[in-house]
Amino acid sequence: ADSSKPVEPVAPEAVNKVKIGLYFATWWALNVVFNIYNKKVLNAYPYPWLTSTLSLACGSLMMLISWATRIAEAPKTDLEFWKTLFPVAVAHTIGHVAATVSMSKVAVSFTHIIKSGEPAFSVLVSRFLLGESFPVPVYLSLIPIIGGCALAAVTELNFNMIGFMGAMISNLAFVFRNIFSKRGMKGKSVSGMNYYACLSMLSLLILTPFAIAVEGPQMWAAGWQTAMSQIGPQFVWWLAAQSVFYHLYNQVSYMSLDEISPLTFSIGNTMKRISVIVSSIIIFHTPVQPVNALGAAIAVLGTFLYSQAKQ
Ligand code: 3PG
Repeated sequence: ADSSKPVEPVAPEAVNKVKIGLYFATWWALNVVFNIYNKKVLNAYPYPWLTSTLSLACGSLMMLISWATRIAEAPKTDLEFWKTLFPVAVAHTIGHVAATVSMSKVAVSFTHIIKSGEPAFSVLVSRFLLGESFPVPVYLSLIPIIGGCALAAVTELNFNMIGFMGAMISNLAFVFRNIFSKRGMKGKSVSGMNYYACLSMLSLLILTPFAIAVEGPQMWAAGWQTAMSQIGPQFVWWLAAQSVFYHLYNQVSYMSLDEISPLTFSIGNTMKRISVIVSSIIIFHTPVQPVNALGAAIAVLGTFLYSQAKQ
């Protein structure tokens, strides 16, 4: 290389783009691993209320240890902070458990195809509940999003109503979670990482009694015997992997939410689903009909058009 050449200064904007690109790539990769292990666990041990509680418990524990050992600095919070966090945690809990219940009933790819319709929910909630209005092209972009999801749903070979409704409820809950959490993070000194840590802890408190009421220790113990006898000790590793990766992907996504707008976040999230849909179809040998794949492709294209229309 010619060392006499002056080194060009890197524009801060370019640095920022690379940083956000790295966040996105990490977030998507962690999410793919989570989805694979989560489904492996659910196939052998169909107790989504417990597995979603364990994911939150594992993340909470990881963060408490990080704070205690000073790997991460603990946030300074007051009662006001926890009060504002409460609605976010309710939405996070509902969205999380609903998605996990969905994935226990249908293919991972199907849950994520329906979940790619999240921007449509975001527009409808903003329009009808918050009174925001959007330019006409934004509304038009909802046609392929909703139409594509609908086409994928009606042509799904293993359609299941609970699986479908779980993904729809998750969409609605996460729209509220994202709106509330962006508001809650604004002007606060708590970083994205710590904000998500507190969110996990509060959600864990909310979810635990419901998980016990809906499933409960008796069911869990009986199912545990079956899973261990069918899969063997590695089942414990699958469970650990789904829990650890659940926390990590969410933590990274909140760290990127610190830097980007909710719109960019929701587009990144939809693009993330493409990698999950494709990898889970390959790994689980999910049967897909061409018209079903077409529905998914139209929905994802709709999200792209939506992002263009909203910019
Ligand atoms: C969950 O368990 O919370 C879902 O898998 C969440 O899905 P998402 O983060 O991809 O929306």
